[in-house]
Amino acid sequence: MKILITGGLGFIGTNFIKYWFKNHPNDHIINLDKLTYAANPKNLTEFENSPNYQFVKGDILDEVLVDQLMSQVELVVHFAAESHVDRSIGDPSLFVKTNVLGTYTLLNAALKYNVRFHHISTDEVFGSIAIDSQDQFSESTPYDPSSPYSAAKASSDHFVRAFIKTFKLQATITNCSNNYGPYQHPEKLLPRFISNIVDGKKLPVYGQGLNFRDWLYVEDHCRAIEAVILKGKIGETYCVGGLKGGTRNIDLIKMLLKVMGKDESCIEYVADRPAHDNYSVNWSKIKNELGWEPIYTLETGLQATVDWYVQNQEWWKETKKEAEEFYKILSAKKV
Ligand code: NAD
Ligand code: DAU
Repeated sequence: MKILITGGLGFIGTNFIKYWFKNHPNDHIINLDKLTYAANPKNLTEFENSPNYQFVKGDILDEVLVDQLMSQVELVVHFAAESHVDRSIGDPSLFVKTNVLGTYTLLNAALKYNVRFHHISTDEVFGSIAIDSQDQFSESTPYDPSSPYSAAKASSDHFVRAFIKTFKLQATITNCSNNYGPYQHPEKLLPRFISNIVDGKKLPVYGQGLNFRDWLYVEDHCRAIEAVILKGKIGETYCVGGLKGGTRNIDLIKMLLKVMGKDESCIEYVADRPAHDNYSVNWSKIKNELGWEPIYTLETGLQATVDWYVQNQEWWKETKKEAEEFYKILSAKKV
């Protein structure tokens, strides 16, 4: 199979390409990535000389380039996005361009060449679960996005759904929860806190740390995408989440401190994120219909993640400086 991956030098895209080549070594991948601040060109150097891998630096908004690449493939797996909620609060404009118009550009080209489209989306499109409830998002949960990031992702999902209904595009969507694991940018919670602990810095916990997330080890997510690509029903959406369900940030951070052998004195409570959501995902549809379920527990996933960041400090040292500069500017803005 010849596959176009968008955003393959970001966190999940990198993990997915490594996973795919390990399990489908005869497939051919074209990786289209703009190399934004979130990409790391060194992530996939192992494939540089492979005849089955081609990297193209470019923008998913470039209609001519997208048309040319789409004409060569049978499947597109669309990861490329502006992905950080805090950056979308700082400046939403790029989120509309990349996440909405970029997806629309890809959809048009996929339709033209009858290419199967898999859209990577997020549980954030569903809004927020009440703090004291045991509810979970599922495929039938109405969309109710809170941040400019999730509004842009929700819009992209709606375009995918509209292309399925109106034009019979051969497409599927996955809405997954918070991924964690190797190659995640140090702007995000776990890499930020692991690297802060390594550097002897404080851990800035938003609000009282009571918001919850549903943590999904990235390799489990890659297996879920594979299941949907190979066995999923065209036109369907699948929700993907972790084994434990909603975990409060403060509980996750205490687990992290334990894994890293540190006490809680480095925790520092800071101003809350505006419109701070809570997430937990019911993944029974993908389990019942496609036989997928997560393998990693939060304990095994956290240990693997900590080990990777401790052993690969050169990978995050440079990008961390930029991430912390961003946070300084954001807190000065007092959004
Ligand atoms: P990321 O920010 O780590 O990587 C995004 C990648 O897309 C980068 O390599 C970047 O250079 C590329 N990119 C950005 N704009 C582009 C453009 N205009 N043209 C081409 N390439 C562009 O993101 P991630 O965490 O790997 O997320 C990947 C996808 O998964 C996103 O669509 C995101 O919404 C979704 N998602 C992420 C999570 C998570 O926890 N990380 C959870 C649910 C869904
Ligand atoms: O739910 C899926 C989403 O998960 C994806 O769609 C997004 O692309 C991805 O970035 C992630 O979004 P979050 O906003 O949940 O991730 P983030 O790592 O920014 O924050 C996780 C939680 O930790 C959130 O409740 C905010 C909190 N937090 C985050 C940072 C960076 C802190 O308390 N302190 C911090 O410094």
